[in-house]
Amino acid sequence: MTKKAYFWWQLRFLNVLTQNSKMKKIDVVLGLQWGDEGKGKVVDVLTPDYKVIARFQGGPNAGHSLHFNGKSYVLKTIPSGIFRDGAINFIGNGVVIDPAILAGEIKALEADGYDITPKLVISKKAHLILPTHRILDAASEASKGKSKIGSTLRGIGPTYMDKTGRNGLRIGDVLSPEFEKRYNTLKEKHINMLKQYPDFEYDITQYEKEWFEGIEKIRQCEFIDSEQTMNDYIDGNVPVLAEGAQGSLLDIDFGTYPFVTSSNTLCAGACTGLGVAPNRIGNVFGIFKAYCTRVGSGPFPTELFDDEGEKMCEIGREFGSTTGRKRRCGWLDLVALKYSVMLNGVTSLIMMKGDVLNSFETLKVAVAYDINGERVTHFPYEVNDDIKPVYREFKGWNQDINDIRKYEEFPTEFKEYVEFIEKECGVPIKIISVGPDREETIIR
Ligand code: GDP
Ligand code: IMO
Ligand code: MG
Repeated sequence: MTKKAYFWWQLRFLNVLTQNSKMKKIDVVLGLQWGDEGKGKVVDVLTPDYKVIARFQGGPNAGHSLHFNGKSYVLKTIPSGIFRDGAINFIGNGVVIDPAILAGEIKALEADGYDITPKLVISKKAHLILPTHRILDAASEASKGKSKIGSTLRGIGPTYMDKTGRNGLRIGDVLSPEFEKRYNTLKEKHINMLKQYPDFEYDITQYEKEWFEGIEKIRQCEFIDSEQTMNDYIDGNVPVLAEGAQGSLLDIDFGTYPFVTSSNTLCAGACTGLGVAPNRIGNVFGIFKAYCTRVGSGPFPTELFDDEGEKMCEIGREFGSTTGRKRRCGWLDLVALKYSVMLNGVTSLIMMKGDVLNSFETLKVAVAYDINGERVTHFPYEVNDDIKPVYREFKGWNQDINDIRKYEEFPTEFKEYVEFIEKECGVPIKIISVGPDREETIIR
């Protein structure tokens, strides 16, 4: 290449770069562990900076808790921006919807004085969870015995199977005069599939009734061509925050398979679940707890089976927001956290629930795994009982941090913990949460 040609080639490259940096983008909030990191709280805290809050995957397996003015709410399908005036709450094509559950959520909030349907829009391409999807989920789990996934039994797996199997029903189909016929065809298919579980008894009569009533209720929301609307928002410089459900270690491709959920929980899921091009993703906020929890079955290398685990569970109130199941607790796992940071391209970290560790004398953080005598620092293909975490110990701060609102005022031991994590991950911790309430948040 001549010098002149090289100059022009370089200039073209520069142009592409600057164009990209000027491009309007959406931000994403997601969980970096096994779910329940505190996504609901964080989205609620960040919503005043956005005009649109968009769920992009998962369904009513999620339970996102919000706490403000002395009241608590748990959202399953509705995005966590719903309590702030002026924000549009957007359910993207990647989400799976159970109309009975969504209608129940809407009605409960209406009873509490919130006008939901005018600020909630639903993608026509979002798939429907049928009553028989729930039955299939339950029958499949029951047949697995000890090796069950520990599913929330909301019909998530069977619905995504019908989506990828190209048999699913979508929100947009509700508007078709053929809807009931198509519903019955899919239901019949499921009833035939259920014959492989002859001992599994079920009766969907009541739930089916609630389901069709739910369809009528959610028809009060606008059903939209969501990918077009979303890109119009982006082009029009309307600030959008995408809200993930579950966590990166439950991702269908990169989680601890098969003990995972059935969608892509990673940042890439925001692209496919909203119709947003990858170069239009801006900030990626990755949320983690100062320790680890997991609900349901599957590997968990730093899990605690002793009094310390019980103490975390008790102080952290680690019981599922959706199913009420006890969450398993353990130390922070940096091997897994770094893996999640890598897969999501996290630009800012958010640390939750440091306050739960207030009274621990010594804290442990897994910095590597010992697998049959070999020291491993990457998240391995097989996460099993052969893994022995290699811990680094930290002195606990042994004081109440719940009332602290300025980073400088945290005890030295707490700051050492925070700064070690951000150094290891190579990403700054920009937000620290020290309690469930909106107000118990420190922005650095
Ligand atoms: P999500 O699914 O990621 O939204 O998380 P969940 O709502 O299922 O679980 C998080 C739980 O922790 C909820 O009960 C929150 O109210 C609570 N929580 C959130 N942040 C904090 C925090 O900083 N400290 C304490 N103690 N609790 C928190
Ligand atoms: P949020 O959004 C924690 C877990 C289940 C089970 C596995 C598969 O509140 O963080 P599924 O019902 O999807 O077939 O269950 O995934 N799981 C969650 N764990 N938080 C969640 O959501 C979860 N959603 C699913 O416990 O182990
Ligand atoms: Mg949850």
